Amino acid sequence: MTAISGKVVAITGASSGIGEATARLLAERGAVVVLGARRTQRLDELAENIRDRGGRAITCATDVARREDLEGLVGRAVAEFGRLDVLVSNAGISKIGPVADLDVDGWSAMIDVNLRGVLHGIAAALPVFRRQGHGHLVTTVSTSGLKIVPTQAVYAATKNAVRTLLEGLRQESTDGVLRTTAVSPGFVRTELADSIDNAQVREQIRHTMDEFAIAPEAVARAIAFAIEQPHDVEIGDITIRPTVQG
Ligand SMILES: NC(=O)c1ccc[n+]([C@@H]2O[C@H](COP(=O)([O-])OP(=O)(O)OC[C@H]3O[C@@H](n4cnc5c(N)ncnc54)[C@H](OP(=O)(O)O)[C@@H]3O)[C@@H](O)[C@H]2O)c1
Repeated sequence: MTAISGKVVAITGASSGIGEATARLLAERGAVVVLGARRTQRLDELAENIRDRGGRAITCATDVARREDLEGLVGRAVAEFGRLDVLVSNAGISKIGPVADLDVDGWSAMIDVNLRGVLHGIAAALPVFRRQGHGHLVTTVSTSGLKIVPTQAVYAATKNAVRTLLEGLRQESTDGVLRTTAVSPGFVRTELADSIDNAQVREQIRHTMDEFAIAPEAVARAIAFAIEQPHDVEIGDITIRPTVQG
């Protein structure tokens, strides 16, 4: 038994990278995981793999840009398992490039997924958490919001909007029902660079990832650490980056 055993955890962006690693680790430690993303085949394969290893996992097609999909994901957890203990709002895209490129569609897409997606998760989960008397909201933000660098301005802005949102929500939620955790990873070896449309920036990021990015499992362990604390202990912020990252 671990402190995570039996917790019902919904994870967005569970089809690859940090979300997938988190799903595997939490399931290994006894959580029931409810996996959301758009690539349902990847989700189904992951859930099957978790079940083959003795874990419990179900999937739910989820586009976080759609409010009703988050209602569906949270509703599925409650319908199948009677409650939702943790929502890991992890789905994200990185359409980075210089602001002067005026990639207005890319900016909108990042706002829709990185910010609106988290808001949709809150809208779906908060009533459930309040009804149950407990709940934990974990979000994946980024060191991009801590050290602002060229090409990442709008991406960082979406991540810092989430950081601000969580702090406000935390201030409004000091009655002991809700825990909030913002996890800020640095470079992590995932598929995130695939979402970069600017070819030059994409190659730069891939090169950096090959050079020194950490494994997504490292972020999964940080998320598990926040979840496994007793309910009266809230881990507010975790920054986790490669030791050599500047
Ligand atoms: N890798 C890094 O260096 C790094 C650093 C800091 C922060 N982060 C953050 O970590 C989080 C996870 O990213 P990752 O690095 O693990 O990259 P990844 O491997 O590309 O994973 C991104 C996940 O988000 C999902 N996603 C994208 N758009 C979605 C949508 N509209 N609805 C639902 N799911 C969606 C993807 O699934 P589908 O395509 O199947 O929907 C995928 O599962 C993101 O929020 C990212 O910003 C990553």
